[in-house]
Amino acid sequence: MSLVEIKDLKVHYPIRSGFWNRVTDSVKAVDGISFNIEAGETYGLVGESGSGKSTTGKSVVGLEKVTSSSIMYKGKDITKKANRKSLDYNHDVQMIFQDSLSSLNPRKRIEDIIAEPLRNFENLSKDEEKLRVLQLLDIVGLDADALYKYPHQFSGGQRQRIGVARAVATNPKLIIADEPVSALDLSVQAQVLNFMKKIQREFGISYLFISHDLGVVRHMCNNIAIMNRGRLVEIGTRDDIYNHPLHIYTKRLLAAIPETNVNDRAKHRANRLAVEEVYREQQDKYYDDEGKAYPLVQISPTHSVALPEDVAKELILKEGEVQA
Ligand SMILES: Nc1ncnc2c1ncn2[C@@H]1O[C@H](COP(=O)(O)OP(=O)(O)O)[C@@H](O)[C@H]1O
Ligand SMILES: [Mg+2]
Repeated sequence: MSLVEIKDLKVHYPIRSGFWNRVTDSVKAVDGISFNIEAGETYGLVGESGSGKSTTGKSVVGLEKVTSSSIMYKGKDITKKANRKSLDYNHDVQMIFQDSLSSLNPRKRIEDIIAEPLRNFENLSKDEEKLRVLQLLDIVGLDADALYKYPHQFSGGQRQRIGVARAVATNPKLIIADEPVSALDLSVQAQVLNFMKKIQREFGISYLFISHDLGVVRHMCNNIAIMNRGRLVEIGTRDDIYNHPLHIYTKRLLAAIPETNVNDRAKHRANRLAVEEVYREQQDKYYDDEGKAYPLVQISPTHSVALPEDVAKELILKEGEVQA
């Protein structure tokens, strides 16, 4: 059994208009997506801004009212509040946000910020609590003098470490990391990713790792889902996605990974333009008449793509020739 199973998740926001302020339409932020997160793994959810990633993340933590879905944890559906309560779900599943400056209360000291989940979920004495907060600071590589400081006194990378310390405080099973390094410089990104991996190994935590950049998740994720316009357009292992992408949208995201090697920039740019050209010419093939992505079809035990079956088969044949 997977740690968490998300089945046909839909989150539609009503749009009201007119004199009576009636619901006239809806934004289909998430429109029928399914995936499983295994214990101890990092699952990547990747797509451009606006594709519905944060809404998905918030639904999995239980912060979003879902239109329909079942999200199974330990055999129970946690979209029902009573089940979240009886399973201690809010203790087991925590969240890290992209923007640590607005997600950490600026008026609270680091000691109180990290202790907050402990105070909510665990009955510790003052001394036990302080010891635990010091341990957590140590785990994320910060000194004890951080205890009495405020969030603005730290750099972006250090604040992300504080966000991680708070998220792991209760020893959760799953952490939803929503663009955890997107606001950081490249060199700092690598540091934060490395200690997130270290913490995962030590505590056996699973991550749902959300990003708009396929370059960032490459070394983090065993399995990846590509999200586009509220739907999943491709699911696969790291090898499937990076070495055998099939959907044009996945190929665009791959072509958009920033090239750090100056010598390869011209080639990289040429490739990106070529992919954009294919996208313009062949879009129709990849989306239905309403512009929606097709249902996923499975093309190997690990790899699925959102295409009509005949188109998928044709593509696989063509890709095979290219690779041969
Ligand atoms: N509370 C809301 N009310 C209406 N529309 C929303 C709300 N939250 C998000 N959306 C819309 O849902 C879509 C997906 O948003 P989001 O999940 O934040 O995407 P991402 O995290 O991939 O950038 C966007 O079009 C966004 O404008
Ligand atoms: Mg987002």
